[in-house]
Amino acid sequence: MRTLLDEKTVFSHIPPKADDLHKGSAGKLYLVAGSRSFRGAAVLATMGALRSGCGYVSLASTPEVCDNISHHLITPTLSVLPENAEGRISRSAAQTVLREAAGYGAMVLGCGLGLDADTEALVRGVLLHFEGPLVLDADGINALARGIDILREAPTKVILTPHEGEMARLCRSTIEAVHRDREGAARTLAKDYGVWVVLKGPHTLIASPDGQLLENTSGNSGLAKGGSGDILSGMIGSLLAQGLDPLWAAACGVYLHGAAADLTARRMSRYCMQPPDLLDDLPEIFIRNG
Ligand code: APR
Ligand code: MG
Repeated sequence: MRTLLDEKTVFSHIPPKADDLHKGSAGKLYLVAGSRSFRGAAVLATMGALRSGCGYVSLASTPEVCDNISHHLITPTLSVLPENAEGRISRSAAQTVLREAAGYGAMVLGCGLGLDADTEALVRGVLLHFEGPLVLDADGINALARGIDILREAPTKVILTPHEGEMARLCRSTIEAVHRDREGAARTLAKDYGVWVVLKGPHTLIASPDGQLLENTSGNSGLAKGGSGDILSGMIGSLLAQGLDPLWAAACGVYLHGAAADLTARRMSRYCMQPPDLLDDLPEIFIRNG
């Protein structure tokens, strides 16, 4: 059975901001994203996280990406990691990531990392030892394609956010086969590996290891632009860091991302809207449910 997401249910899972909250208890997110070729992905994921209620966001990335983000955002704290010759985070960064992220409520790993042997070693090293809830996106998912069984060894709750191409690569299937049976693909991955799966696209599906399946009802094709997914990962990570369980952090993130994009499309058109624009419409969704 599929359950359709609606706004009332989504907001029943989002805790109100108590008057006596302080930034330390409002959710702390550690984000590992970006590389020389994909600097924007780190900016977008960080923006998504900051706009979704998290008290504290830290971006860990290469020197170039950390330098670049300062031109866009002043609020995240930065962790400058070692990089390899191609400008991707080097594998030796895994220990630093694990040590620093231990004090955080959740981690997002993958947006714009690029993919090489260093990325694979970094992702696998973090996955095997990080104990908080973890969102794995984009190249964080691609980094597992050569050995997906590691997911069963992860000590933590993992949310995977693949589009159909990433899903096909991860499961050694084809995009056509995934597309024909999106529900089966999401359910099987979730159940077999004990992970939460966000299979993106129109009507994004969210599957949990215990067999629940939610279908998103918001969003539009104005989101079909590079960068939309990075914003979503930051939003899901932010909700996870604020204490939502993996199923509802994923579901609320997906719904809010789409609902904001629906307002953006009305004001800017599906043609002209750009991924960061939806973050200007997100407040309206929170205000109307306040
Ligand atoms: N209707 C509704 N939502 C949509 C639609 C649509 N027609 N098309 C896309 N979306 C939403 C998805 O549900 C998802 O939330 O937009 C987001 C797109 O996320 P991704 O596919 O992860 O795209 P993104 O990472 O932003 O950019 C493309 O993926 O293949 C890689 O390397 C490639 O960098 C590129 C990246
Ligand atoms: Mg993506």
